[in-house]
Amino acid sequence: MYIFYFCAGNMYSAKWKKKYFDSYRRKLLDYSDKIDFASNDYLGFSKEERIKKILFNYKEEMVFSGSTGSRLISGNKKWMEEIEHTIASYHHVQTSVIFSSGYQANLGLLSSVADRNDLYLIDENVHASIYDGVRLSFAKYFKFKHNDINHLKTLIEKNKKQFEDIYIVIEGLYSMDGDSPDMVSILEMVDNKKVFLIVDETHSFGVMGKDHLGLLNSKEFGSQCAARVIGYGKAFGFSGAAVIGSEVLKKYLINFSRAFIFSTALPLYHYQLILHLYDEMIHRSENERKKLNQNIQCYLDYTKTNPMFSENFSPIQYYSIQDVEFSDLQQYIIDRGIFAKVILPPTVAKNKERVRISLHSFNTEQEIVHLVDTLKIFDK
Ligand SMILES: Cc1ncc(COP(=O)(O)O)c(C=O)c1O
Repeated sequence: MYIFYFCAGNMYSAKWKKKYFDSYRRKLLDYSDKIDFASNDYLGFSKEERIKKILFNYKEEMVFSGSTGSRLISGNKKWMEEIEHTIASYHHVQTSVIFSSGYQANLGLLSSVADRNDLYLIDENVHASIYDGVRLSFAKYFKFKHNDINHLKTLIEKNKKQFEDIYIVIEGLYSMDGDSPDMVSILEMVDNKKVFLIVDETHSFGVMGKDHLGLLNSKEFGSQCAARVIGYGKAFGFSGAAVIGSEVLKKYLINFSRAFIFSTALPLYHYQLILHLYDEMIHRSENERKKLNQNIQCYLDYTKTNPMFSENFSPIQYYSIQDVEFSDLQQYIIDRGIFAKVILPPTVAKNKERVRISLHSFNTEQEIVHLVDTLKIFDK
């Protein structure tokens, strides 16, 4: 359909083309020479020399070994399972299953865990991979308004009798809004008999909770979640993800999760590196965390009287935009040496267009001031 539009050329008016082509995703560019307010590398792990050195310490065969197959065919090693158990112990749960990305983890978990007799209730602002996983299952799903506990409660009450199991799916830290759910109220609705909870901690991992390992990283909270997704592509500055939970969940996934069963396992060093990154995160990231928190405070101080800027105490912020040419705005930001992304529908809802701002431990106060001054020119 899109190809047809691209090829249709003269059939459409210049105005039509401007409107739609402006918001199309364009060719991919490298903005690594700009000030980074776009990456999810909140703690600067991907730039950190001491972390890069970990890679070089690997034995050659480890670095260059691919896994050679899916975990169920030739790609499994005994120590991979040991690593999964160690990861689980950091998160106070029984076990974990590593997937090659957060997208795969959500797809693999959500497409398999519920069936046609079940219902998913998902926050309307969850990531695309959650929508895709839910749609791939045979379960019905409804969206509830973002962080709206009453709406969620109403949907549970209304549908309790009709469905066998109900799965609430939320995120620990929302990737476009930078806010978190009211966990106390949500956990009151979860009984683990009829109503279960699944939390994607991809963005909260590394920046929130006990040992910084996620919003629900405690024995008490963890035991109340049917599953959590821990993404390694954000605060770890790496890639991959784990689904964490019970032994029963693991058995279930290795039998029914098609994204796990029918996909080549990550290369061997990847598992080991994930373990090293946990060690860094738990034992040696205090400095980065302190700097990140200082930068969040600095951003909040500079934006506090301006309603166009978001105001969560989190590394994810945004600047609301209305009535501007989005492509001109994006170019303007880049021309001022800043890499921050204009986010448009369908990634966010219509009229919720924004410049997403990712704050990092390595940003400086001057950079934050420069960013705020650049954006506030567009205040309405
Ligand atoms: C909440 C959430 N879950 C999952 C993903 C997908 O993770 P990955 O990039 O590792 O595939 C993302 C990516 O942005 C995300 O924001």
